[in-house]
Amino acid sequence: MSDSSRQTPPGGTIYLDSAASTALRPEALEAMLPFMTGDFANPSAHHESGRRAHDAMERARDDVAAILGALAEEVVFASGGTESINTAVKGVAFAQAEAGVGRHIVTTEVEHHAVLHSLQFLERFGFEVEVLPVDEHGLVTPDEVATAIRPDTALVSVAYANNEVGTVQPLPDIARAVKERAQALGRQVPFHTDAVQAPNSHSLDVDALGVDLLSLSGHKFGGPKGTGLLYVRRGVPFLELLSGGGQERQRRSGTENVPGVVGMATALRLAQEEREAFTARTSMLRDRLFDAVRAACPEARLNGHPTQRLPHNLHVCFSDLEGESLVAELDALGIACSAGAACTSATWEPSHVLLAMGVPLDLAIGSLRMSLWPSITEAQIDYVAAQLPGAVSRVRASAVRAI
Ligand SMILES: Cc1ncc(COP(=O)(O)O)c(C=O)c1O
Repeated sequence: MSDSSRQTPPGGTIYLDSAASTALRPEALEAMLPFMTGDFANPSAHHESGRRAHDAMERARDDVAAILGALAEEVVFASGGTESINTAVKGVAFAQAEAGVGRHIVTTEVEHHAVLHSLQFLERFGFEVEVLPVDEHGLVTPDEVATAIRPDTALVSVAYANNEVGTVQPLPDIARAVKERAQALGRQVPFHTDAVQAPNSHSLDVDALGVDLLSLSGHKFGGPKGTGLLYVRRGVPFLELLSGGGQERQRRSGTENVPGVVGMATALRLAQEEREAFTARTSMLRDRLFDAVRAACPEARLNGHPTQRLPHNLHVCFSDLEGESLVAELDALGIACSAGAACTSATWEPSHVLLAMGVPLDLAIGSLRMSLWPSITEAQIDYVAAQLPGAVSRVRASAVRAI
């Protein structure tokens, strides 16, 4: 459909892609502005303006640390989830190898590519990566993770919540099993989690979760893009990824993004304060949407765990269509969502997450992820529900014509 034939729903485009990115919270923007103009100085500078920027950044660090139940010195600011994950995974792996601990790393098949591709990178340097399978809901069992640990295991990395299907892992149970197994081997095995999708609905208390490293990305919870953070428990072996001026206690060199840090900390505080209301509101909207999808397309299949899932994630597969075509059709109707499958230049790449869960290939290419936000109205959900069956039929018909 051409741009001119694009429809706009009453009230404007309906944004069902909060798992991909969220709008900056007004409170975060307001907190950031002074550090973009008046107090713009380098936080390492030895003058009054620099000190003001530095103090604001350290207040943000204290706030983040309080949310995580961590020490301020354990919080490293970064440019996003990807950098945080690369830093965690590569930083621990190289430190463990240097210390002679070993080069074996345990992870799961359903990690984000920031984790999986970082680990593939490490394989080129002699690391051995054990990728654990998941069940049909995308869950890994604590036992399986623990059993995979060997005397030479350098790191375990398991995501908190999956970005495609929304399955939430039993992180405290996995962490406990990892610790028991490591103790039986007479050592400690650092446990990292990619928590990028969790902050809107789940606790980030690192002790309750039992994690040693945790990665976040600011723009997934109403903070600015280009911001992220890594929690590194004191004593965890770690080498920096970015070398330079020694900022962030030698763990991440480069002039800190003070406005970004301040905005991210503000957004994280609000997201964590509003977790209960977020969960109640988005799960109600999700159920309303899923009921409508099922009524219109009874064969649509829900992906991810039925209950242990992010409240704002609805991920379904339709037969006989390509998810990307459905996303384009919905876009033309003013509905923004995602297919959860990557299209390379000429071929459709089905999602590695769906394939790991055993979703048949023909269904895996017909996936649609709709991720909600509390500001979405019931009327908008009803508009989507009304448009979806027609969109599915049209995409199926054009797929048949193309054969
Ligand atoms: C689970 C998960 N991990 C990591 C990332 C990477 O975050 P960013 O793109 O903000 O660097 C994302 C982003 O989609 C994600 O959903």
